[in-house]
Amino acid sequence: MPNQSLKEKLNQAFAKLKPKKKPAKQDKPTMANQSLKEKLNQAFAKLKPKKKPAKQEIAPQEIKTKENKKENTKKRFKLPKLSSIFKKKKLEQDLPTVNKALPKSLKVIDKYSLYEPFAQVFIVQDPKTGEYRYILDELQLDNFERGIYNRVLEILLAEIESPKEEIPDPRKFFAEEAKKIVDKYRISLGWLPDVSWYKILYHAERDLVGFGKIDPLMRDPNIEDISCDGVNKSVYIWHRTFESIETNVQFENDEILDNMVGKLVHMAGKHVSSAFPIVDASLPGKHRLAVCYRREITPFGTAFTIRKFRDDPYSIIDLINTGTFSEELAAYLWILLENRASVMILGGTAAGKTTALNAMACLIKPGSKIITIEETAELNLSHENWVSLISRQSYGLGGNAIGEVPLFDLVKASMRHRPDMLIVGEVRGEEAYVLFQALATGHGGMCTMHAENLDSAVKRLTQKPMEISPAYIPLMNIVISVQRVHLVKSGVKKAYRRILSTNEIVGYENYANIFTWDPIADQQVASLSSSAMYASIAKRVGQTTADLIEETKRRSEVLHWMRQQKIRSYKEVARIIAEYYARPKEFYQKIRMSEEEKPVAAEPKI
Ligand SMILES: Nc1ncnc2c1ncn2[C@@H]1O[C@H](COP(=O)(O)OP(=O)(O)OP(=O)(O)O)[C@@H](O)[C@H]1O
Ligand SMILES: [Mg+2]
Repeated sequence: MPNQSLKEKLNQAFAKLKPKKKPAKQDKPTMANQSLKEKLNQAFAKLKPKKKPAKQEIAPQEIKTKENKKENTKKRFKLPKLSSIFKKKKLEQDLPTVNKALPKSLKVIDKYSLYEPFAQVFIVQDPKTGEYRYILDELQLDNFERGIYNRVLEILLAEIESPKEEIPDPRKFFAEEAKKIVDKYRISLGWLPDVSWYKILYHAERDLVGFGKIDPLMRDPNIEDISCDGVNKSVYIWHRTFESIETNVQFENDEILDNMVGKLVHMAGKHVSSAFPIVDASLPGKHRLAVCYRREITPFGTAFTIRKFRDDPYSIIDLINTGTFSEELAAYLWILLENRASVMILGGTAAGKTTALNAMACLIKPGSKIITIEETAELNLSHENWVSLISRQSYGLGGNAIGEVPLFDLVKASMRHRPDMLIVGEVRGEEAYVLFQALATGHGGMCTMHAENLDSAVKRLTQKPMEISPAYIPLMNIVISVQRVHLVKSGVKKAYRRILSTNEIVGYENYANIFTWDPIADQQVASLSSSAMYASIAKRVGQTTADLIEETKRRSEVLHWMRQQKIRSYKEVARIIAEYYARPKEFYQKIRMSEEEKPVAAEPKI
């Protein structure tokens, strides 16, 4: 009410001051107009209440300026660079940290930024229970900003044009376009400090092209899995250092949760509904999403789990650096894969099977025709001659599975494409049978399987639904068993992934252990001389096992050299491996010449 009377008074003052003749345009001010302006300003100053005017009251002045001087306005109201607003040292005071509100009893163990200056994380510990919690501290919109944010969303949805060509980074594209649009409309939307505009842009990007409320968690490279068990339940994460911990992120009601999950499923190009409440999908960035929608099968509300994948996948060099593989083990697999051996990777949930499979795939000869078959797209190969096949769920209701394309059909279909190497993401059912048929006809094959050890894997393979006859089991040449183990390093106990054993299947229930992990020394112990695979390859290529062992040493050195040279990205590693395949002797000589440090392996006889 006091605002209204203020407006009325202002109008009256305006009416009195108004000259009888039509005023000249403001962009060409006359003397008369200038004095009129001055008078108006004085009248305005008198009428101005002592307390700070509400934000909305400032807007009309700005709109007036915009209407009259469009060009200048554009320049004047361009948002300044974010970095200039949030000077590094100011950051702490600008962020309304949860830290201040954290109970004193909780101990802050770690704190890091996820997306400066909008989101940061506190890892806290309850000294009584010893439990860790993940506290996400994200800049929130106040009520006024929320109102403008809702209008900005409408404008953005109406105005942002879809790009004409494919763009490598949709988020960057959106951020740039959204900033342009906000620069255009910000005056008419109401006055807000620059910081608020950046907050609004951040929330718009998060909600329109990002992963919504869990977007900051998706930015945290320390998180492996994100899982939500239902409405009003804390989201849990699997943290690389602190393992499974509770977060302060929750979904307050079904609508918010269902909307977000529905959006995620659509981002993955799939459909979810009460009729089809179970969905497995691959989100942009290859993150694997598993959903149980609404309260159809999950009484606590929609449940979802995201297996996060790194933007930059682990290469074989990364896995050597983390201690999962040894250089010698990687070199051994390299020789076997070159000779089209078949490899199966075993392990429990999240043991690192798919990661190991993906990293090993770059050891396959470039130019080989590779077909990958998965339920959700997780594999990422550097090979040009690569076909990716993804199974499809049924569109129909009832038992007749209309439109379904299961893994079984895909493995069968892939045989007609004459692959050199067939990679099945995970074998679970009758597709294993077809994969073994493919191996029997001379194709190379790789797959993963959920099993704790070789014995239980073989039992599963020979029983329903896989039903592989014992005579076919040796067609899988090598079985690698990967596991998450806890090791104490520099006094800190942490989870690591290790290849516990590498076995060659000589016959049914006849296995030759080639590499074993020694947990005390944290090393792979090799017995290459007992390799039946080396013996059979040697015969085929007119060499001896000793020659192949020498070659293993050379390749170990190539891998070691890459580590020394800090060559680790998937693409770079694939390039070096391709170079070695093309000219092994020359390449090896080159690295020997350039090696500054002593090579790890003994000197080879070329
Ligand atoms: N050697 C490794 N070192 C560090 N992190 C790893 C390693 N291998 C896998 N991870 C991480 O562990 C998580 C699980 O990996 P991955 O998806 O490969 O497991 P999985 O065994 O295939 O799981 P699932 O049974 O669910 O398919 C991922 O976040 C991955 O980045
Ligand atoms: Mg997997």
